[in-house]
Amino acid sequence: MARFDGKLVGYENVCRHLPLSLDGGDGEIFSRDGRHFFCQSHGALYEPATGLCVRGPCEGARLKKLKFAVHDGVIWLEQNSPETK
Ligand code: FES
Repeated sequence: MARFDGKLVGYENVCRHLPLSLDGGDGEIFSRDGRHFFCQSHGALYEPATGLCVRGPCEGARLKKLKFAVHDGVIWLEQNSPETK
């Protein structure tokens, strides 16, 4: 979860290049200029508003969005539906 341009956005903290966290565990997900999410492993840049990778080894891929709602200032993540076979 992050706030960007005054809006709350939510994505899985997993790069689309390799299944590694964007922040490497330190909580830093923004590029130095604050305009993109930045993967610390190999430098991929993602648009915070869309999750689209705009530079790096996974260019064109998108971060997986989280479904959430805000009620009384509390963020509620929606659970994934159980898979059916
Ligand atoms: S793991 Fe994110 S760019 Fe390679």
